Amino acid sequence: MALIALLPGDGIGPEVITQARRVLDALDLDLTYEEVPVGGVAYHTLGHPLPESTLDVARRADALLFGAVGDPTCDNLERSLRPEQAILGLRKHLGLFSNLRPATLFEGLEDASALKPEVARQIDLVIVRELNGDVYFGEKGRRVRPDGAREGYDIMSYDEHEVRRIARVGFETARKRRGQLCSVDKANVLETSQLWRDVVIEVAADYPDVTLSHMYVDNAAMQLVRNPGQFDVIVTGNLFGDILSDQASMCAGSIGMLPSASLDDAGKGLYEPIHGSAPDIAGQGKANPCAAILSAALMLRHSLGQAAAADRIEAAVARAIRDGARTADLGGTMTTSAMGDAVLGVL
Ligand code: NAD
Ligand code: IPM
Ligand code: MN
Repeated sequence: MALIALLPGDGIGPEVITQARRVLDALDLDLTYEEVPVGGVAYHTLGHPLPESTLDVARRADALLFGAVGDPTCDNLERSLRPEQAILGLRKHLGLFSNLRPATLFEGLEDASALKPEVARQIDLVIVRELNGDVYFGEKGRRVRPDGAREGYDIMSYDEHEVRRIARVGFETARKRRGQLCSVDKANVLETSQLWRDVVIEVAADYPDVTLSHMYVDNAAMQLVRNPGQFDVIVTGNLFGDILSDQASMCAGSIGMLPSASLDDAGKGLYEPIHGSAPDIAGQGKANPCAAILSAALMLRHSLGQAAAADRIEAAVARAIRDGARTADLGGTMTTSAMGDAVLGVL
């Protein structure tokens, strides 16, 4: 029996994870759950955003289902105690270096997309985001210069091993889809990106069946809203992937629709919506649970060998939306639990 670590976290995290759990329960799978605190709620109760007791369960689990972390009352804590450190710590401690963020437009959501319907309809891509390196994990700090000016710094770097392993995930993902990989960097300015590009080109020799292209990140941001249909798989670094995936979500209708899988190289994974704790709507029953529900589907497919169950969940979400189920972010009036009901109704 597989063990799932359930980490609802802060803000809308628990609200959307409740709906994901209802959907999983409806499928009668052989799963057990251990729910543990993470983020601001863990800081407030146990004094640390990622307590050792939570990390223990995370290590023992076969897969992790995560809501969101982030709590405005923690924004002035020293950085190591802020809720966001919990998700960064889990990704790093568990070696979850590859983050898959699929973005597709569910039929009927054309009107929710920020793009024209005929442009929005074309979006069907996966962003493969590196998750263990880049400016996120380089040396960072503050100093006061001799002239008295305060300075902050964060070192951006990648080594060739880090680039090679994420490039391979990019090529493998493209190989199973339409065979097109676009590597996004800023090689015209950043040395980190020039190394990235050199290594991606080397790895391409092992994937003659995949067409590789390169794009600067500023252009990629523009192309994503001009013509997202041109992209099949995008492989990029931690920071660029973070930004481009929020952008892609609005092409597909809402940030409340995009799930993600964060994987190591042995099949273990953490599954979470790409959105955050949304303090502006937390506690009001307004959050769209679809990203969390679809994350549960990714978990079944990538870590638990339950592809058929994953297909069922995705089809149920698609059907519910086609039949008009809409939370406020999609232009509707449904509450979080009513959206869960709509998906369960199809199942
Ligand atoms: P956010 O994603 O939480 O919210 C951005 C906007 O999108 C808000 O207006 C919010 O109401 C809306 N939104 C987000 N998810 C939604 C959903 N499911 N349904 C409907 N609307 C939704 O980003 P933010 O406001 O920049 O960050 C809030 C907090 O979350 C911060 O503390 C941030 O660090 C944290 N955060 C955590 C994660 C994570 O846990 N992986 C991801 C992103 C942000
Ligand atoms: C995400 C979030 C996180 C990130 C934050 C909360 C650390 O924005 O998962 O997209 O930047 O990776
Ligand atoms: Mn983000």
